[in-house]
Amino acid sequence: MSQTSSAESHPIYPPPADFSARARVPSMDDYQRRYDASIADPEAFWAAEAGELLWREPWTRVLDWQMPFARWFDGGKINVCENCVDRHANGPLRDKAAIIWEGEPGDQRTLTYGQLHEEVCRFANVLERNDLTAGDRVIIYMPMVPEAAVAMLACARIGAVHSVVFGGFSSESIFDRLEDSGAVAVITADGGWRRGSVVPLKPAVDEAVAKYGKIKRVIVLRRCGNEVAMNPATDVWWHEAAAAAPATHSPAAFDSEHPLFILYTSGSTGKPKGILHTSGGYLTGTYATCKYVFDMRPEDVYWCTADVGWITGHSYIVYGPLANGATQLMYEGAPNHPDFGRFWSMIERYRVTIFYTAPTAIRAFIKAGNHFPAGHDLSSLRLLGSVGEPINPEAWTWYHQHIGGGRCPIVDTWWQTETGAILISPMPGATPCIPGTATRPFFGIDAAILDDAGNECAPNQDGRLVIRKPWPSMTRTIYNDPERFKKTYWSDFPGLYTAGDGARRDEHGNFWIIGRLDDVLNVSGHRLGTAEIESALVSHPAVAEAAAVGRPDDLKGQAVAVFVTLKAGFTESEELRRELRNHVGHVIGAIAKPDDIHFAPGLPKTRSGKIMRRILKELVCTGQVTGNITTLEDYSVIATLQQKIAH
Ligand code: WT7
Repeated sequence: MSQTSSAESHPIYPPPADFSARARVPSMDDYQRRYDASIADPEAFWAAEAGELLWREPWTRVLDWQMPFARWFDGGKINVCENCVDRHANGPLRDKAAIIWEGEPGDQRTLTYGQLHEEVCRFANVLERNDLTAGDRVIIYMPMVPEAAVAMLACARIGAVHSVVFGGFSSESIFDRLEDSGAVAVITADGGWRRGSVVPLKPAVDEAVAKYGKIKRVIVLRRCGNEVAMNPATDVWWHEAAAAAPATHSPAAFDSEHPLFILYTSGSTGKPKGILHTSGGYLTGTYATCKYVFDMRPEDVYWCTADVGWITGHSYIVYGPLANGATQLMYEGAPNHPDFGRFWSMIERYRVTIFYTAPTAIRAFIKAGNHFPAGHDLSSLRLLGSVGEPINPEAWTWYHQHIGGGRCPIVDTWWQTETGAILISPMPGATPCIPGTATRPFFGIDAAILDDAGNECAPNQDGRLVIRKPWPSMTRTIYNDPERFKKTYWSDFPGLYTAGDGARRDEHGNFWIIGRLDDVLNVSGHRLGTAEIESALVSHPAVAEAAAVGRPDDLKGQAVAVFVTLKAGFTESEELRRELRNHVGHVIGAIAKPDDIHFAPGLPKTRSGKIMRRILKELVCTGQVTGNITTLEDYSVIATLQQKIAH
């Protein structure tokens, strides 16, 4: 049942009493008391959480903070994989399901912690037999199969640094990441199932590897049985190598600050940033947030629908849940295969208790119709989660009612690739939920909203979201580019982490995230840089200049609108439009294909030649330009573009 807050008439959903009764954080008083203590002494809070993990050697210092470079649990030695796998496989959880997997065609597999341990050991031996050692970078380009997690964990086990590339990215994107990371090996598969067909993965790897030329080994999983070309100089089959490898492997201990992975994400330039995460601190953050925010219980069946190619898959499919000894469901394919009932059928069949998905998916389900969830027994669910973008109240309310049956709290979790773990979220047994707000900071997280001058905003005043104290799962740097790291996150306000999101805090202390303040788009929960899309467009022979902006979209949250000026000799046509869309898909990946392409004889620019994206944004959002245009070099451009958009 919802109550209504007097101040702004937002409906309030207090945590259900039976949920609170057994929750780790059972009340707002308890949250506040523990939050205040954690902010008074964050190191004590984080050290207590880290202390629940298995350390080979204790740390000598909780935090060494040389702004903006943090070292957490310095001196400590840890093996992340041992924490996620061996710790459970060698104890009472040995026969508990770790991963219950369903392929898109309906094939199923369950790996207990004992079986996961065996698979990971075998594959760690495979990696070592192929000359991979600690510190080597390994690209993983795989479908959503248990082996994707096995590959990540095996890398962690031997200290190799994985960089997972989402299976929807193009071969050029793989190549860029091979080069930037200096990778020596790739782990991939023949293909994966998506919407009833096999999506080949190996050809994109082959193309990238040939261009790069510095790969020692490509390990190929046979998933779909589609034909692949194997290069005898570099390529080996996973199943052959694993069958020949021993099923035991003893994990070495690594420094707490040993790099765990690099994950590339979009920023405000054309070049994605290699976000680097390290071992002890990252595991502490994902472990603790999973435990409290999802309030995980031994009997839970947890399902996060993200792909392991994104940070959500790293933190809340692989490292956080496994560190907690959870049982989780993993699914290979599309949410609408064979129809929009797939997720609900899986929740019913596997008795899922905690379900974590994205607002864009929820909006697609709303559109598909209520009869899909209505046809399934979803009574096993006790907690729902949302991530990736602000959840609009309509989607929140539908999710609560049609999926949660009106009885499940919804944790709206705000965080980023860079933060490694959830930073702002309700505690499901304590925090009253209000649709549209991620509510309160997690323990130890000192979040604030500042105005441009760096002063804290008044309640309900829009400003910039910052984090004022370091936390263990924070990114340590941008790989190979510490200067960009400093400039991007630490230079707006001295000593504070700038998230790049606009937000406000209401009079009750709830954080409302508004969206990105930089040139980053959020399309279906995926992060895309406008500059990346622009540089993909100008790499086409017909394009002289391009500008990309986001416009609101009912399903995707944001859609990509681009303005393209053609080179002399090329003419506007539907065919060229199609070609440009496909070109962007080829350069970056299908998720980046522009939704609207406007051919523009000229773009609005300042006298110094900078494209005024603000004007384009206003045009695609409202059809008008009302903002300040005094710095515009040629006013006639606007009228021309207005006409173009109207058509
Ligand atoms: C950006 C980070 C965090 C994993 C998935 C995306 C937006 C994320 C929320 C939320 C409002 C959100 C922000 C953030 N975002 N979660 N619950 N409410 N906005 O990770 O690709 O690094 O993107 O996603 O704008 O900065 P990412």
